[in-house]
Amino acid sequence: MPVAKDRSVELSKKVDELTRKGMTQRQIASKLHIAPSTVCRYQNLSKASASKIDGDDCRIPDNGVVSFSSAGDTAKAEYLTKQLPTEQTLEGILKECGADLSVWRVKEWSYKAWTTGMKLRINSGIDGDKEKIDRISYGKQYSIHVVFQRIAPKVFKEASDLLWAKFRDGSKIQKRPPVKKTDPMLGVVCLFDAHFAKLAWGAETGKDYDLQIAEDVWCNAIEDLLARSPCSRIGKWVLPIGNDLVHIDNPDNKTRNGTPQDTDGRYAKIIATAASSAKYAVERLASVADVDVVWVPGNHDLTTSFHIAHYLSGVFHKHDGVSVDVSPSPRKYVTWNEVLLGFTHGNEEKIADLPAIMATEMKTKGWAKSKVADWFLGHVHHSQKFMTKHVGEHKGVTIRTMRSLASTDSWHHRKGYIGSIQSAEAHFYTKSYWDSCVSVIARTTK
Ligand SMILES: [Fe+2]
Repeated sequence: MPVAKDRSVELSKKVDELTRKGMTQRQIASKLHIAPSTVCRYQNLSKASASKIDGDDCRIPDNGVVSFSSAGDTAKAEYLTKQLPTEQTLEGILKECGADLSVWRVKEWSYKAWTTGMKLRINSGIDGDKEKIDRISYGKQYSIHVVFQRIAPKVFKEASDLLWAKFRDGSKIQKRPPVKKTDPMLGVVCLFDAHFAKLAWGAETGKDYDLQIAEDVWCNAIEDLLARSPCSRIGKWVLPIGNDLVHIDNPDNKTRNGTPQDTDGRYAKIIATAASSAKYAVERLASVADVDVVWVPGNHDLTTSFHIAHYLSGVFHKHDGVSVDVSPSPRKYVTWNEVLLGFTHGNEEKIADLPAIMATEMKTKGWAKSKVADWFLGHVHHSQKFMTKHVGEHKGVTIRTMRSLASTDSWHHRKGYIGSIQSAEAHFYTKSYWDSCVSVIARTTK
């Protein structure tokens, strides 16, 4: 028996030595004149012995185990290791688990350490000599648990993918007809409170309204306004975008202030439809004259309309005839010769304050030389007009609230806010500050 044990020890040492040299099991077996299975057994015994010598038998390999899994807008990574905390840091774990930090941000993470005891059973068979070794091995283990959250929620990514798909289509501006240069006009296109994605059931509210109807109504309003406008005289259009263009401000189907809305369509579809409709409006108007788009946030669509305005800015950035004002102020101003126009949704300022606000904000930028100063507001969904007194040649300040293109939803119907006419308007100004307007009633194609 001792002779057999000595030979086994010797063989084991030789197997170790040849293994370290990088030889395969077959090569070692051939060199030592033993079976490959015996080489394998010696190698396993060697690994187990190494563990025994270290006194550190853990299931976790020294370089740790990393797992990463995601579901929807959250993901988690778990790192189990024996080497914390000296070398393993959160940054190292993020690198190990391959989390893309341009997509994910760390929401929270935790660190845990504990000691484990494990019964070790080694079957070491050398040349048929079976031997069992039982012992308790103690070792330290560590785990780091990281919870990630998507920087941009999945629905935003889907919406942006849809927008980019449309962006790749490019803009389609038709050739313009000649304009009479002698007395060109400024046209202001008021497609206000279209509320894309508002959902109204005709049986309950008197008239159906949904995402598809909104798109249809919007495009028809553009065509009807163009048909009734003095296009050959238009030198420039102003197109406010926002003013509750979209019914909701987030994927939870709520407004900016968190009011739940009856909504038709998924977030990505809503944004893509509203954006492509806005693009269509710019293209059609630009086929007649230059277009100044101004972003005017509404109380329903502060965020969504902001991104749609930026989308328009990207789509038309190569068109000299189209400008998009996406500056962060909720109020926008446009000057045209001696005409000064102001745009705001109307849910924040008091109407009585608007003349003074315009005079203050445009004191050196057009107020002094203006003969006409008009405000265009949305929000109330019906037509109103307020005027200050004429002062000398100045016609005073006129404040107009515009009708909505959308029909009434359930809440407004219950409250009795009914009877508003669904329509859009275009107002025209000449150099001699004569103004006129056309109005079209909202219609669907069918
Ligand atoms: Fe509105």
